[in-house]
Amino acid sequence: MKERVRTLISEEEIDRRIREVAAQISEDYRGKPIHMICILKGGAMFMCELSKRIQNDNISLDFMSVSSYGSGMTSSGIVKIVKDLDDPLEGKNVLVVEDIVDTGHTLHHLLGILNTRKPASIEVCTLLNKPSRREMDVPTKYACFAVPDKFVVGYGLDYDQRYRNLPYIGVVEFEEDEEGSEG
Ligand code: IMP
Ligand code: MG
Repeated sequence: MKERVRTLISEEEIDRRIREVAAQISEDYRGKPIHMICILKGGAMFMCELSKRIQNDNISLDFMSVSSYGSGMTSSGIVKIVKDLDDPLEGKNVLVVEDIVDTGHTLHHLLGILNTRKPASIEVCTLLNKPSRREMDVPTKYACFAVPDKFVVGYGLDYDQRYRNLPYIGVVEFEEDEEGSEG
């Protein structure tokens, strides 16, 4: 089986859309500090590209890592904090930065945990959204792109830890090796 990645959303499209969403966030939080929380590892590239385009001189960044039990391409929805935040959330305007909201289980669980820390407000900004797969209702105020029910990689998203570095979003496809073909 040969594996290849077909481009779904180009680097230019992502760049354009992140600027739009960043402008919206700048507007919505005008005069208010923003505490951005990146969900590692998938949200890392998006966090960098998004945060540098938000116009607000009172932005702080923090990072956490969660693992949802389950293997391969599905999520079980049971979330374990692997690396917790460094700073408390009390009284802050929290913006959770995610790579993708799929079934919604991970985020539902995570928001439950974060809300116990008494932020002043909490919103979600996700690069990708797969609405057709949703099982838990989660508030995603900011979503850059809706994607079809396909397993996507790139721009932080991985398949078995690979492809996170791709500057675009693609779909992993598998094809039979043809006899006599090269590569
Ligand atoms: P959920 O709990 O089903 O919403 O899944 C959330 C997590 O599953 C995401 O943060 C990703 O890490 C992972 N995930 C879901 N769909 C994809 C995909 O298409 N490609 C890569 N990772 C995915
Ligand atoms: Mg994730």
